[in-house]
Amino acid sequence: MSPDIPDQVRKTVMADGNECWLDELPGVVDSLAQEWSLTIGSSLAGGHAALVVEVTLADGTPAVLKIGVPGRDLGHEAMVLRLANGGGCAKLLGEDVGRQALLLERLGAPMYDIVADPSNRHDLLCEVAVRMWRPIGPDIGLPTGAELAEQYAHRLPELWEQAGRPCSPATVADALNCMNRRRLAHDDRSSVLVHGDIHEMNALQASDGSYKLIDPAGLRAEPACDLGTIVRCNPGLDDDLWARTERLASRTRVDATAIWEWGTIHRVVSGVYACSIGFQPFGDLLLAEADRLTA
Ligand SMILES: Nc1ncnc2c1ncn2[C@@H]1O[C@H](COP(=O)(O)OP(=O)(O)O)[C@@H](O)[C@H]1O
Ligand SMILES: [Mg+2]
Repeated sequence: MSPDIPDQVRKTVMADGNECWLDELPGVVDSLAQEWSLTIGSSLAGGHAALVVEVTLADGTPAVLKIGVPGRDLGHEAMVLRLANGGGCAKLLGEDVGRQALLLERLGAPMYDIVADPSNRHDLLCEVAVRMWRPIGPDIGLPTGAELAEQYAHRLPELWEQAGRPCSPATVADALNCMNRRRLAHDDRSSVLVHGDIHEMNALQASDGSYKLIDPAGLRAEPACDLGTIVRCNPGLDDDLWARTERLASRTRVDATAIWEWGTIHRVVSGVYACSIGFQPFGDLLLAEADRLTA
């Protein structure tokens, strides 16, 4: 049975001129289903750069099959999930890097749909992050937090121009300062496995009621990098972001200034990027918040 391709995935593939991938997909799904003895179910919406399909293993275990669109390399995601080994993340049940395919533990609804109170969600995201973090050595081939900060510093000014200068120059300068400080603060000895995009739609409920993360970007970085994305969550909530930062710091014993600086980095980069692709109102809300903080 060939799965439906969600509109958003189809759009990404067509926009990149890769229609032939859509034609080949049913054959790829069929051959993976044979190799891994899977029964194919329905597609899941919500992704944009991968087809995600519910599947069932031969022994009845529910799982999902994720196949990246052309140009999407799932190698880092596979590496992160292998290293985490089910701790705080969906368990990796199989991988076929050549076909950009991952077989993952099937999880349930996103935290966003289950937990109504935003500060409870931030606490739960913090808990799941702690479960995922673990020391990893410099031999692990994931980008470092320093490399991410450097790459962002290189791209932000240009992206800001391209997006039509959607926030104040002071906000860009503030973000660049934070990138510089976090780049210099990187230390291989205290770096851990970092998810890189922790938010309430990337934390899904597991069968035991706990939450597990999906869709890791994968970094070797300071834990503050992951807590910074939690500070970026829910722009427009109007809570005191410094209080949110201190709460995350006290729950994890991570330095509040480092969390705050990563929060600034993620807020401004995501805001400018979201504005550049018209992902609204998220982009405008993030940058309004950023401009308020730098005013
Ligand atoms: N392990 C999983 N269990 C259940 N649903 C999942 C799982 N992984 C992904 N999904 C669903 O598929 C959607 C897209 O997956 P995601 O990994 O975020 O794709 P993308 O890399 O394209 O963003 C998610 O928002 C979620 O609804
Ligand atoms: Mg995703």
